[in-house]
Amino acid sequence: MSTKQMEHKVADLSLAPAGREKIQWAESRMPVLMALREKYGQTRPFAGFRIAGCLHVTKETAVLVETLVAAGAEVAWSGCNPLSTQDDVAAALAAGGVPIFAWHGMNTAEFYWAIDECLGRRPNLTLDDGADLIFSAHARHKELAKTSIIAGTEETTTGVHRLRAMAEDGKLLYPVVAVNDAETKWDFDNVYGTGQSSIDGILRATSILLAGKNFVVAGYGHCGRGVAMRAAGMGANVIVTEVKPTAALKAILDGHRVMTMDEAAALGDVFITATGMKDVIVARHFAAMKDGAVICNTGHYDCEIKIDDLTALAGAGRAIRPNNEQYTLPDGRRVFLLAKGRLVNLAAAEGHPSEVMDMSFANQFHALLWMSREGKDLAPAVYDITEEQDQEIAALKLETMGRRIDTLTPDQVAYARDYAAGT
Ligand code: ADE
Repeated sequence: MSTKQMEHKVADLSLAPAGREKIQWAESRMPVLMALREKYGQTRPFAGFRIAGCLHVTKETAVLVETLVAAGAEVAWSGCNPLSTQDDVAAALAAGGVPIFAWHGMNTAEFYWAIDECLGRRPNLTLDDGADLIFSAHARHKELAKTSIIAGTEETTTGVHRLRAMAEDGKLLYPVVAVNDAETKWDFDNVYGTGQSSIDGILRATSILLAGKNFVVAGYGHCGRGVAMRAAGMGANVIVTEVKPTAALKAILDGHRVMTMDEAAALGDVFITATGMKDVIVARHFAAMKDGAVICNTGHYDCEIKIDDLTALAGAGRAIRPNNEQYTLPDGRRVFLLAKGRLVNLAAAEGHPSEVMDMSFANQFHALLWMSREGKDLAPAVYDITEEQDQEIAALKLETMGRRIDTLTPDQVAYARDYAAGT
């Protein structure tokens, strides 16, 4: 770890004005988070807290970072994926004085160096997307994880799964809030956010017509469901592959064809993985694909598509347009890999729309606030956002949308609890 602290490391500070325009655009579409900025900008509950974040550097993330700063926190930031950083946004944050260490196209060593720079600021709260910051704290900065860090938060399904496994093994050193598991996160961000942004990434990278295409979605969790829904909405014929019987049944009842990847491989025009599992598309699948097949991933890590198998079959890829590489199989068939198998929605597009991230990041803000107050008294475990918190965020979102809903009368509330009511 360096002894002298670097102010920031971004691709190009001169991009800051363009990044600031983007951030202002996002602010205008994130009213819940902006209301939190307004409210807690007065009381500054994070004064004295140092927060390290490791999450995609997008315009929406910038709104979260600047809200935490407005609420009194000292914040240091790194990106959580080598290809998801928006360099203009990173520049704007750096120009605004945030110690940020992120640029598009970082290699693995640089990625962990950036995390270490943030941890070098001795945070007492961590914020993760994929849990790399927490894992780094536990692996390379154990003393920090045991002493300085009070608590953390985690944004993704993949990260929460791993943290729960870590907690079960007794290895987690501080409490973590599963932001992903809030209803106002997974039921909106994972479904509608991933659905729209993944299609956005595929279209920016390929410009293909989706109508009439066989569109293979691997994994029918919330993300896969969102992608399938939006692809079907654009006229694609969706095929779902699954390993979980209940998820497969849901896909069938939602009107999609379900089959194995071995069967789908020869049929698909577009393939997208959304499983959180490795080796979903492997050599025998590439070998069976049609000429022109497009392959991409929207799961957190880039191991869902086995790219080594593809290069073993077809040699190196050739970039034919941004985020789109052509691989030519020995018999001349071409398959196109988008965004190097990394998150297509963040690498080839801008990630989820601001309107959705508004709720996800309001959850992050509240989770950090909760942990700043109570984290030090909680055992190391994975904690859920409370139902009241979830409903409060949903209610605020509805209010900002100008929508009103009904309220139960006291009589109805009593009825709901009346186990003697009968028919
Ligand atoms: N994850 C998915 N979309 C995102 C976005 N727009 N900003 C930050 N994280 C994201």
